[in-house]
Amino acid sequence: MSRSETFPERMRFLADQVRSRLKNLRREVAKLDETAVRAAYARWAPYYDIIFRAPFHKGRQEAVKHINTLSGHVLEAGVGTGISLPRYREDLEITGIDLSEEMLERARIRARNLPNVRELATMDAGDLAFPDEHFDVVVAMYVITVVPDPARVMRELERVTKPGGTVILVNHFSADGGIRAQIERSMERFADRLGWNADFPKSRILTRTNMRLEKEITLAPFRLFTMLTFRKPEPPAPGA
Ligand SMILES: C[S@@+](CC[C@H](N)C(=O)[O-])C[C@H]1O[C@@H](n2cnc3c(N)ncnc32)[C@H](O)[C@@H]1O
Repeated sequence: MSRSETFPERMRFLADQVRSRLKNLRREVAKLDETAVRAAYARWAPYYDIIFRAPFHKGRQEAVKHINTLSGHVLEAGVGTGISLPRYREDLEITGIDLSEEMLERARIRARNLPNVRELATMDAGDLAFPDEHFDVVVAMYVITVVPDPARVMRELERVTKPGGTVILVNHFSADGGIRAQIERSMERFADRLGWNADFPKSRILTRTNMRLEKEITLAPFRLFTMLTFRKPEPPAPGA
């Protein structure tokens, strides 16, 4: 900074410095969280299907049943071991992404006999390497509460969806009050080891998207899980 700079210029310079440092800090924190998620799923991968096939079955079944009534190119974000891949209608084109290489290895083995699975890639759902408005349908099952930055992931899922396209989330969302809410809050400290976030109310999603919530259904077991179906708005017609 030179001596000739005015006070407002100096202030602007300082503000830029602070902003850029904060941005780097946020990036570092996200990376740490990402490392924890990767480590958790590297541990889970060998047992994942045995442990999580049954409890998550109903949610996957409902989401895929709905997707199978639609058409086009589907992105499954957080595809994991690819447990849902064989259930998609054969004429739907499927792309899957996941942060965990260990989970994806299993998905790739599953996809060997599934010609409609176009690509399985290691990728962060919060930083998707796809162009805007690329997919007809985007689905994330049991993912939004395990990502370090859910708002960023929601923005990315929306960005890569075509106008008029569908975004489906299946997840457990925490209760607003009562015993269940207390248990969920107490589980929060184990989040890193479990690889998910136990205290995560639905409002964290609903207040951070421009998409229209079209349908919300609660699912077995014990209505613990919720399927949210969003539609990305079409741009207004010219002159409207
Ligand atoms: C609970 S598993 C769900 C897997 C699968 N959707 C299912 O139905 O069984 C969560 C998955 O999300 C992945 N994941 C976590 N954070 C992610 C991120 N930022 N981007 C992409 N995948 C992520 C994990 O690696 C894991 O495979």
